[in-house]
Amino acid sequence: MRSAKDFFRPLAVGAPAPLREVPFRPSRMIHFFDPGNAKMAAKVPALAPTVDVLLGNLEDAVPTDRKEAARAGLVAVARAHDLGGTQLWTRVNSLDSPWALDDLVTLVTEIGDRLDVVMVPKVEGPQDIHYVDRLLAQLEARAGLDRPVLVHAILETAAGVANVEAIAGASPRMQGISLGPADLAASRRMKTTRVGGGHPGYLVREDPPPTSGGGTPGDMPRVTYQQDLWHYTIARMVDACAAHGILPYYGPFGDIQDVTACEDQFRNAFLLGCVGAWTLHPVQIDIAKRVFSPAPQDVAWAERVIEAMGDGTGAVMIDGKMQDDATYKQCRVVAELAAALAARDPELAASYAAARKAAL
Ligand code: GLV
Ligand code: MG
Repeated sequence: MRSAKDFFRPLAVGAPAPLREVPFRPSRMIHFFDPGNAKMAAKVPALAPTVDVLLGNLEDAVPTDRKEAARAGLVAVARAHDLGGTQLWTRVNSLDSPWALDDLVTLVTEIGDRLDVVMVPKVEGPQDIHYVDRLLAQLEARAGLDRPVLVHAILETAAGVANVEAIAGASPRMQGISLGPADLAASRRMKTTRVGGGHPGYLVREDPPPTSGGGTPGDMPRVTYQQDLWHYTIARMVDACAAHGILPYYGPFGDIQDVTACEDQFRNAFLLGCVGAWTLHPVQIDIAKRVFSPAPQDVAWAERVIEAMGDGTGAVMIDGKMQDDATYKQCRVVAELAAALAARDPELAASYAAARKAAL
């Protein structure tokens, strides 16, 4: 049993107090880079102003013999560059690997004051978060940090999905959760061989027409509709995150050339409640920026509804559409997100101002 009063006490003497609210900082794209790759590390100063989050990846995609180089590279990058308002995250190796402990010890000790969030892969249940929670508190105390490093879980095991609500609420350190469709597909024994996105075989077919004049239903041309393999998991993840006041994200989309399908997947996630996605290649950065920033005309509409609704109660008609307390709340979600993003992104702020003017 853990008393509710203990939840916000530091887990180590001298560690910073846990946060009561996850600070909302724009994180439309979590841009992955390999800090052990000198060419990529050299691009960090130019890349940082173009993204909301830069993530030094130590886990999958970094080969075994370059794990230490990636860790050392991240320490060097964090020390060498001031990233301005861009957050610095890392993805450490999984907790059952030989590198996870050294990843956490080295990074928090050496650059804990620079690191905003630690992404933990292959989380299976709240026990994984509890382990990281206590360890981070010990390391923060030793490093003399004055703010906690937050934790982000990747939802990429069948057990993790079964326990997603408990994971989301496992610690005040929890910042958010990302869908990890590649590992999740493998863990579930799905029969896909790709990183995120749809699959042409996962579909529904319209009913056959009535067979009056001969022919079998199998011969008739019938429209099919591809379905979204990830809908269930994303919706569950969004509910778990919203219920615990943390942030949900789409993860990676591996077909770098298929920018259209990437945009579709990101937009579905945005509409369902996600605040961002991973970007694996620069071409995906603008897609994430476009998709995870509310459209100017939606923001102008939301602001119009908010203004017309006064204290947010009652009902009004605007352009023939009924507005009440619930639409007012939806409009506030859009307008508040837009305001938070505009504060970081002057180009976006200008497009919102133009749409506002046009709506007058
Ligand atoms: C991400 O790590 C994934 O497995 O999709
Ligand atoms: Mg993975």
